Parts: sequence; structure tokens; C-alpha cells
Amino acid sequence: MAKTLKLYTYPDPLLNEISETVVDFSNDLKKFTEDMLKTMYENNGIGLAAPQVGILKRVIVIDLQEDGKREPFVFINPEIIEKSGTITFEEGCLSVPQYREIVKRSENITVKYQDLSGEEKVINATKLFAICLQHEIDHLNGILFVDKISQLKKSFLKNGLKRIVKIRKAPPIPQNLVY
Ligand code: CO
Repeated sequence: MAKTLKLYTYPDPLLNEISETVVDFSNDLKKFTEDMLKTMYENNGIGLAAPQVGILKRVIVIDLQEDGKREPFVFINPEIIEKSGTITFEEGCLSVPQYREIVKRSENITVKYQDLSGEEKVINATKLFAICLQHEIDHLNGILFVDKISQLKKSFLKNGLKRIVKIRKAPPIPQNLVY
């Protein structure tokens, strides 16, 4: 029986760690992905990466559940080998509850990965599937979508500070004016 795993949430530092390559393709790996899928479904997710349940291994499960139908995918050691186009989409993350942000990603990607038996495979993904895969691969590299956003916000903040600096550099208003 698959079990529900504990979700690690932002700002747990574990979510910023880089996950290790999977080398052991034993039955434990299959059991773990079943637990991941159960955890994902129970939390109404469409994707989950191992670090989100505290395991720093390059394992991803995805099921877009289009038309309410379950079609689970398991990706071991996934790697983007080609990408094209851009797409923006409002994303959410099980590790950052109640937060959504618009993120820009590649619209089409080709991903090399291994299946549960260790066999190498290649998949072309587009639109939501591509977005989800990129989001999950980011998790394996310790990147949360809020990290991408905070960089944007940092640059906004920097520009804001520049403006303040400019104002401060302007000649001071004389204090002795009388009206
Ligand atoms: Co996420």
C-alpha cells in the first residue's frame, strides 16, 4: 500500500538543495514513486519532485489528469536536451502553499530521462506538460518559482532604490523659505 508523505514547504532550506542522480533502480524506487503519486493526488497536485517530500534524489512524478483521467508519468534523472519558444503561465507549488505567480518558461522541451527499470527514454513535451516538467526539474536543482520571482522583485527594488538615491542627490530644499 502506498503511503502519503510529508510535504516540505518554503522556506525549508532542503528545498534549495541540489538532488543526487539515482543509481539504484530497485523495487524501493518503484515503491517511493507510488508514495509520491499518492501524495501528489491527495494534495490535488499535477506534479511532484522528490525534494518536496524531503528526499534529495532526481525523481519526478507528473499527472496532468486532463478530463479527470489519471495518467501518471515517472521521470528518473530527467534532463532537458532541447527547448524552444516561450510561454507564460500562472504557477502554483505544493511547497509554497497559497501563492501563485506568473512564470515565463520554454513552450516546447525535449527531455531525456530513465524509467523505473533504468531504461533511457526521450520525451517531447509542450504547453502545460512542458511547464510542469520544467517546474519539477527546477525542484531537483533547488530552485523554487519564488526564487525566480524574488530575482525579478529584487531588480524592481534596485530600480526603486536608484530613484530614491536620485532624489536624495537633488539639491536640498532650503529650509529658510517663508511664504
Ligand atoms: Co513546485
